[in-house]
Order: sequence, then structure tokens, then C-alpha cells
Amino acid sequence: MPPVAIGIIGCGNISDSYFKGAASSKIVSATTCADLKHELAEEKAETYGAKAMSVDALLADKAVSIVINLTVPLAHAEVSRRILEAGKHVYTEKPLAARLADARQVLELAGAKGLRVGSAPDTFMGAAHQAARRAIDDGKIGRVVAGAAAVISRGMEHWHPNPEFFFKPGGGPILDVGPYYFTQLINLLGPVARVTAVATRGLPKRTVTSEPLAGSLIDVEVATSVNGVLEFVSGANVTLTASWDVWKHTRLPFEIYGTEGSLLVPDPNFFGGDVEISEQDGDWQAVDIEAFPFGTPNRPTSKGDMVADYRMIGLLDMAAAIHAGRPHRASGALALHTMEVMEGLQTASDTGRHVVIETRPERPAPLPLGSGEEVFLQADSKAA
Ligand SMILES: NC(=O)c1ccc[n+]([C@@H]2O[C@H](COP(=O)([O-])OP(=O)(O)OC[C@H]3O[C@@H](n4cnc5c(N)ncnc54)[C@H](O)[C@@H]3O)[C@@H](O)[C@H]2O)c1
Repeated sequence: MPPVAIGIIGCGNISDSYFKGAASSKIVSATTCADLKHELAEEKAETYGAKAMSVDALLADKAVSIVINLTVPLAHAEVSRRILEAGKHVYTEKPLAARLADARQVLELAGAKGLRVGSAPDTFMGAAHQAARRAIDDGKIGRVVAGAAAVISRGMEHWHPNPEFFFKPGGGPILDVGPYYFTQLINLLGPVARVTAVATRGLPKRTVTSEPLAGSLIDVEVATSVNGVLEFVSGANVTLTASWDVWKHTRLPFEIYGTEGSLLVPDPNFFGGDVEISEQDGDWQAVDIEAFPFGTPNRPTSKGDMVADYRMIGLLDMAAAIHAGRPHRASGALALHTMEVMEGLQTASDTGRHVVIETRPERPAPLPLGSGEEVFLQADSKAA
């Protein structure tokens, strides 16, 4: 297939991952970019060989058929709506919208216009998460009965250059990092049937310690410590702890418990990592993830560890899927379901009850074995 011309709206912190990903892809080409701060768009355009323009001009560019929305969460729904109104498919960073009602409207508009919506996270398509899915689908731990997930840290104000949005609607550990965890749980176990939770705010204000805004205060408008329970349609139930109020802990990202054994799944913020399995109460055994695509470490973290980071493969899959006329994996329907779960947790806490989840997306098709973006172009990429 010829490369699909994409435009990028939002040229902030995460945009480099997308520009770099596009530069090394034959499926897409990042031709245009825009930002409210035009100088940021110009900077990225110069670095990556794209053309900086206004948002209106980008949306009017007939050559562009998919636009990536990398704005802040509170702007996601409005920017995605404008992209769809302009007749272009949208792939948005998570969350799909700051509120479930807005996310629903985005999908309704896309449906009415016959356009696609894709949404990060796409880390569930990484080798470790696909290997874990294969182990469950092959019955290696029997029927999944329960599990525990944890995403716990001290927050975001010590590293992000402009961390305010993390503590406003659309942010917080549930909407900001939760999508990685909920999406991977749905990839592993299928859709969620109901949720309950207790959600609290650890601090009313956070002090920024990262530059250039060190010393400034952020009013916290979202819950920053949440303990929830998810019951899946399959009957499995999983506890989730999501917090930005913790200095130190010993919790693992995921433990999945089946009738015949247990499975340890690594942090779904990354594409690779160690997957371990036990046969009943036997020793933990490493699960080989080599045969799956998108698991080889390719980026150093700030601590110097190498991690697998293939952010934007969800977009590559969507571009290839549009060309082939098949469903894409990091779909709007999947993201809407995670939004319903995330908002449901807050509602459950506010009202002291269980919240029934109504949407029922298909589980995304597993990725074929292989390596690199070619897997999206294979005929068996359609396999469900
Ligand atoms: N930074 C990360 O490591 C990271 C990782 C994964 C996902 N994300 C997600 O990516 C999104 C962006 O995060 P970021 O860290 O790049 O934020 P950022 O604040 O660094 O960048 C966002 C950019 O969007 C621009 N913008 C905001 N509203 C706009 C509008 N209406 N039209 C045009 N431009 C607009 C801003 O001017 C800014 O340059 C967020 O949803 C975030 O959750 C970020």
C-alpha cells in the first residue's frame, strides 16, 4: 500500500514518539502538523521534515486522510470532532475524551460519517501482552477466576514540563494511566460487566518540582488514589489499585489467577517485559515472547534501562486496516468501553454502589506472529 499522509495536531511532549514512529514507517508519512503554539509546530516540522500550518489549514489539506490528536485530554473530544467534521479519520491519544458523554458523541459522529476512530493505548499489541493473551487463550492457566492490577507512583509533577493537565478532568491515575491497564485487561479477559470503587484525593494541591515550572502549585480536581473491583462478562473479577500518592510499594502490575495456574504480566505502559507463568503451585516459568512482534527493547529510560517502545503501532494497524477493509485493534469502541469503566469507578465511589457497564466491544484480534509493521499487512492480520 502507498504511505498514508497523516497530520498531527498537538506538538507537545509525546509528539516526538509519533514523528519518529512515522519516520521509520512505510505505512504512514507525517506530512503536516499544527499546535495552538505555532512555534512548537514549526520546531517539530523542521526537525522531522513536515509542514507546520494552522489547525484549520491542516484540516483543509485534502492529501491528509488520518489526523492524530495529541492535544491535552480536555481538548480531545473537540479536536477529534473537528477532524471528523473535516472528513478525516482520527487517531487520538488517550483518553478518548475527558468525559464519557463526549466520547460517545465522537463515536456517534464517526459512525454517521463512516469514518474510523482509533485511540491509544496500543501497548496491549506489544509482544509481552500478546504472549500473555496467547497463554490465556490456549488455556495454560485454565479458566481465569480473579486477578490483581496495580498502577502506583508518586505522580507526574516531578518530571513533566507542564504537568497541570494530569490533575484536571481527564487526568488522574484512572484516566491518565488507567487506559493502559484497562485496555490490557480487556485484551486478556474480554469486556467488563460491572465495577465498584472507593476514590479519594490524597492532596488538595500539588507542588511542581520539574522545570520550568518548579515551585508552582496545581489545584487537584480529580481522585488520585482509587481502589476498585472489576467484574468481567466472563465471570472473572480483578482488583485495581491506581494511585499517585505513594512513595514506595511492592505491588506487581498484573497477577492473573486461573483454575490451573497463575500468570504475571509486565507493566502495560511498555510493549515488552517479563511474562511468567506457574502450573498450579509450581515454580514461575518465563514465557517466551520472542516470536511476537514489538517486544525488542529499543529505547533507554531516564534510569538507563532499555524498554520496548513502539507507540503508534495502533495507528499503523488502523491505516493498514482501512486499506484492507478490516477492523482495527486500538478501536474507538474499545476506548469507549474503557471510558465507561473509568467513569463507572468514580460514579461507584460517589454513589456507594456497583455500576453496570453497558458497552460490549469485541476483543481486539490477536496479532499474528512475525516482526515489525509487516504484520499489519499480512492477510492473517484479520484473524480474530
Ligand atoms: N507525555 C507522555 O509521556 C505521554 C505518554 C502517553 C500519552 N500521552 C498523552 O498524550 C497527550 C498529550 O500529552 P503531552 O505530554 O504531549 O502534552 P503537552 O502538554 O506536552 O502537549 C500538548 C500540546 O497540545 C497543544 N494543544 C492543546 N489544545 C490544542 C488545540 N485545541 N489545538 C491544537 N493544539 C492544542 C498544546 O499547545 C500542547 O503543545 C495527552 O492526552 C497525554 O495523556 C502523553
